[in-house]
Amino acid sequence: MSAIILRVSIVLCLGVVLTDSQSLRKKIYMTVPQLISSAGYPVEKHRVKTPDGYILQMHRIPAGRRTARRSGSPNAKGKKAVLLVHGLLGSSSDFVIMGPERSLGYILADAGYDVWIGNLRGNVHTAHQTLKRTNPEFWSYSFHEHGKHDAPAMIDKVLNVTGLDRLMYIGYSMGTTTFFTMMSQRPEYNDKVIAFVGLAPAVYLDNIRFLANFLLKTVNLPNTLRTRGMLSVAFEPSTMEFIVSSFCSIRNPDADMCMRVIFSIVGEDYEQNDWDITPVILARFQPASWKQLEHFGKIAITGVFTSWEDGLWGAVKPYNLSRVAVPVSLFYGENDQLTEKSQVQRLATELNSTGVLESLEPGCSWPKFNHLDFVFAKDVGNLLNRPLVKHINMLFKKYDKD
Ligand SMILES: *[C@@H]1O[C@H](CO)[C@@H](O)[C@H](O)[C@H]1NC(C)=O
Ligand SMILES: *[C@@H]1O[C@H](CO)[C@@H](O)[C@H](O)[C@H]1NC(C)=O
Ligand SMILES: *[C@@H]1O[C@H](CO)[C@@H](O)[C@H](O)[C@H]1NC(C)=O
Repeated sequence: MSAIILRVSIVLCLGVVLTDSQSLRKKIYMTVPQLISSAGYPVEKHRVKTPDGYILQMHRIPAGRRTARRSGSPNAKGKKAVLLVHGLLGSSSDFVIMGPERSLGYILADAGYDVWIGNLRGNVHTAHQTLKRTNPEFWSYSFHEHGKHDAPAMIDKVLNVTGLDRLMYIGYSMGTTTFFTMMSQRPEYNDKVIAFVGLAPAVYLDNIRFLANFLLKTVNLPNTLRTRGMLSVAFEPSTMEFIVSSFCSIRNPDADMCMRVIFSIVGEDYEQNDWDITPVILARFQPASWKQLEHFGKIAITGVFTSWEDGLWGAVKPYNLSRVAVPVSLFYGENDQLTEKSQVQRLATELNSTGVLESLEPGCSWPKFNHLDFVFAKDVGNLLNRPLVKHINMLFKKYDKD
């Protein structure tokens, strides 16, 4: 009798494990609209053209789960719009991959916002009117073009479709670099933004100067790989799945090699690492251009938020941060080694001197909160996103006066 029960329960357990890992495996290959609609939310795709020929895709969650069901069809009328902009190697996926209880895209939609999730040029949601992805010219961009062309085009798309005058911009990591570059290059966009929220803002990177010098000067990594025909920083989902299943499957901090490498750059936080979803996150990493890394490297090496100008070792010309004219809220991670606290503080001091700093705070009280935790922490819903929505409500109340 007990043997039968044991066998039955083993079969049941295996069944659960298999379905679980299968549904996770499926998540590696699902498109963002598929992810959103399988979570029970309405979703729309929008194409955005930039003046230099790139075609970007935006993903919109126009309503929450409950509102969508109640009204039968999603209706964004009268709603306020938020634009979410991802970081390096990221995509719109980063704001939904942890699911409805944890990811910011869903939590904002359930809080009543019209959520627009952007995609910057380079990731799988990018095409070009004339350039193929195999053309080196396709990859000739950095966050400079993200800020000068992509973000303005996406903002115009949101305002055009919704008929609103202004939106709230929420950036994570490179999505914040994009914001500051945009305001320096296209200050007229201040009129289209109610307020800016910067999560782990990447403007000053002095703390990774050694790493940048090593990779760009000592090893000369981008040029070495360029001459070997590697056009971009590329990740093939199936290759990533293989790497992840062979090196990242040891779920034990003492023996783990995979997360250790990543943590050496972003800060160590095993407690908030969700081992189940990690393979999905890694396999969904997006391509980047070498120039993006080099431009960040130039900032780290010079200690100046400088434009690219005549290249990595060329002239240093600071972006003008005094052109930011909207309220700025900055959130840092206590253990973020990539966009480190002191560097975020330096940015805050500069913005405070021009009177636009709304607040500077830790993203949450967890002392090991690292760079990736802002989107992928096991408990990112409770630690960061739910309090963040309250902050966003407050910003709309204070600054969105009709
Ligand atoms: C949106 O763009 C189209 C085409 O450029 C234009 O005709 C229309 O008036 C715009 N709508 C709004 C609400 O701005
Ligand atoms: C930066 O922008 C501010 C505000 O528009 C302007 O007053 C200032 O002259 C600019 N600084 C430089 C170096 O261009
Ligand atoms: C910003 O400036 C005000 C007064 O000029 C000061 O009281 C405040 O502490 C500053 N905030 C930060 C984060 O530097």
